[in-house]
Amino acid sequence: MIKLSEWIKACKTDQVGDGKLFAFDHKDQKILLANLKGKIFATDLICTHAQADLSTGFLTDEGIRCPLHLSVFNLENGTPQGPPAEKPLKTYNVKIQENEIYVEV
Ligand code: FES
Repeated sequence: MIKLSEWIKACKTDQVGDGKLFAFDHKDQKILLANLKGKIFATDLICTHAQADLSTGFLTDEGIRCPLHLSVFNLENGTPQGPPAEKPLKTYNVKIQENEIYVEV
């Protein structure tokens, strides 16, 4: 079965200020929003290495750093920048309309 994507409303822009992380659930998906220097990115919330919650990680210029074993994932394409993580994080398209953040899931 083909799954069509849809845009869902995640939160208001002021809930994800500069340098902030925001986690939310949509059905069985767990998604992370990150505001890196004023740009909002959306990725999966759970690290591809050993299931750490990335909303408790750290935002760096290179991306989101996992709190457990410190791999950093690029926010544009989800690619891990170093070990131990090897699998990329899923990333999602983001749009902002009238101070609301939408994610394409
Ligand atoms: S759980 Fe994220 S790097 Fe290990």
